[in-house]
Amino acid sequence: MVSGGSRLNGTVRVGGAKNSVLKLMAAALLTEGTTTITNCPDILDVPLMADVLEGLGCDVRLDGDIVHITTPPEPRYRADFEAVEKFRASVCVLGPLVARRRRAVVALPGGDAIGSRPLDMHQSGLRALGASSYIEHGCVVASADRLVGAEIELEFPSVGATENILMAAVLAEGRTTIVNAAREPDIVDLCDMLVKMGAKVSGAGSSVLTVDGVATLTPTTHRVIGDRIVAATWGMAASITRGDVTVEGIDPEHLSLVLDKLRGVGAEITKWDDGFRVVQAERATAINWATLPYPGFPTDLQPIAIALAAVSDGTSVITENIFEARFRFVEEMMRLGAQARIDGHHVAVRGVEQLSSAHVWSSDIRAGAGLVLAALVADGQTTVHDVFHIDRGYPFFVEILQELGVEITREA
Ligand code: UD1
Repeated sequence: MVSGGSRLNGTVRVGGAKNSVLKLMAAALLTEGTTTITNCPDILDVPLMADVLEGLGCDVRLDGDIVHITTPPEPRYRADFEAVEKFRASVCVLGPLVARRRRAVVALPGGDAIGSRPLDMHQSGLRALGASSYIEHGCVVASADRLVGAEIELEFPSVGATENILMAAVLAEGRTTIVNAAREPDIVDLCDMLVKMGAKVSGAGSSVLTVDGVATLTPTTHRVIGDRIVAATWGMAASITRGDVTVEGIDPEHLSLVLDKLRGVGAEITKWDDGFRVVQAERATAINWATLPYPGFPTDLQPIAIALAAVSDGTSVITENIFEARFRFVEEMMRLGAQARIDGHHVAVRGVEQLSSAHVWSSDIRAGAGLVLAALVADGQTTVHDVFHIDRGYPFFVEILQELGVEITREA
């Protein structure tokens, strides 16, 4: 239950990036022995990924924000439905298993509230490296006698496909070039860890990754980068509530465009090495937002941008270019009084001074966070249901809001 009307005020320290840590954990499959990952976020997906790895024969120990993963000489190659059904990111074990075992069977997780998420580019990349890959009995199967480097051009810079192909290529014979690779900081983080493990990877952060395969990798210790999506959520929350929020534990360069957009709505931004501050003195001004692959505006922040647009002065157009069904939650925003009209992959939002409290339902991590932030600018008390989604991406979401001055309670 959230009471509207507070202006957020205070400091938040963000932990490691969800979209990075899960891939780093999967990368531990690439080597025998104990890999240590530090600065792990306290979110549900980390123990879920630990379950997936344990199902593959690894020994995983979670110790505060540190995870130790000990991989046996021959991990199992089959990740069953029970282990992977709870979250889609588990598909990132595909590349490492093909690399290590030359065979992988990974159950396909169920539907997603943000639209269809095919694996065709993951599969065609693995095929280019010499593997066969097909879908059978609800699993993606890949196998190869040997993996041989190749030039692979992605038709879209998919984060997941780039990661799976990269993790297969590090143990392939010869040179692989991934053209139109994703450039997200999470990819750079993964490349950094792979290089520490002895992989030969160059071009991280650009759209061409070059990998020279090696025979074996060795375990390492690696610190996860700060979560730019969580960091930006708190910064945008300051703009939504006309507040003053300082965020620490994040390289603001990972959020260059987002922070520029917040300047565009009238916020005053200060940046330093590992943090930034957002001060929004007046009501935000409406601007347009369009999601794009990094360094563009992240699709994961689109629901937060809609919450901001809902109370900005003027009309904003938000365009979703990454996931086809990511506007489903907008109906919930409309229950809160948001003046929104959806037209294909655009939504026009006419801002109002104040939203109105209601019962709303969250459908995924980011939509859930967007609804709670919208509730902060609604009159009265809003109840957000199904908040367990938020736990998958935002550590201590409710506690942080309380610290920032919000009256909020959690029932389940
Ligand atoms: C990752 C992030 C997710 C983020 C997204 C885009 C994780 C765990 N998740 O998801 O939070 O929203 O990047 O920044 O890191 N596609 C295909 N075929 C493929 C692969 C992807 O058509 O083989 C399409 C998808 O349907 C989607 C687009 O490409 O429309 C982008 O997907 P992708 O970048 O792969 O996202 P994920 O890695 O799944």
